[in-house]
Amino acid sequence: MKKIMLKLLPAVAVVGMMATSVQADEAAMAAAGAEVFKRCQACHSTDSSKNAFGPSLVGVVGREAASLPRFAYSEALKESGIVWTEDNLRKWVADNTKLVPGTRMRHVAISDAAEQDYLIAYLKTL
Ligand code: HEC
Repeated sequence: MKKIMLKLLPAVAVVGMMATSVQADEAAMAAAGAEVFKRCQACHSTDSSKNAFGPSLVGVVGREAASLPRFAYSEALKESGIVWTEDNLRKWVADNTKLVPGTRMRHVAISDAAEQDYLIAYLKTL
């Protein structure tokens, strides 16, 4: 229910507004997402040419899981068959070890729908 409310409220608020304020909204979401991303930064680079302890997340939205050439992914992620849709990214940041048992990524638990929205908005800008 909370998730539905969070999705509906901005939609209702936006009705009748100019497209420019929608864009400002997205920019604000991405900025908030950059804050959430601090919890990922230790392991993930935002430079497409660099894999850190984790793979680069540049262009990750819509990408097939475990598809970067120069990163040593776990067998579990390679065999997952997952595509990083928004829905799967939500499941991953809420409980990655549940989505892909055996993944090498340390467990994260970002279950707040708003935080997930921000994070995905930010990932889309990379
Ligand atoms: C302790 C280090 C660490 C942290 C913190 C971390 N990750 Fe990861 N991440 C990894 C590793 C290692 C992998 C590769 C997992 C595998 O091969 O099973 C990975 C994989 C991923 C993938 C799959 C990428 C691909 O190319 O398939 C995504 C998406 C991802 N992480 C997102 C995040 C997000 C978002 C956060 C912050 C909420 C985060 N990670 C925090 C280490 C980390």
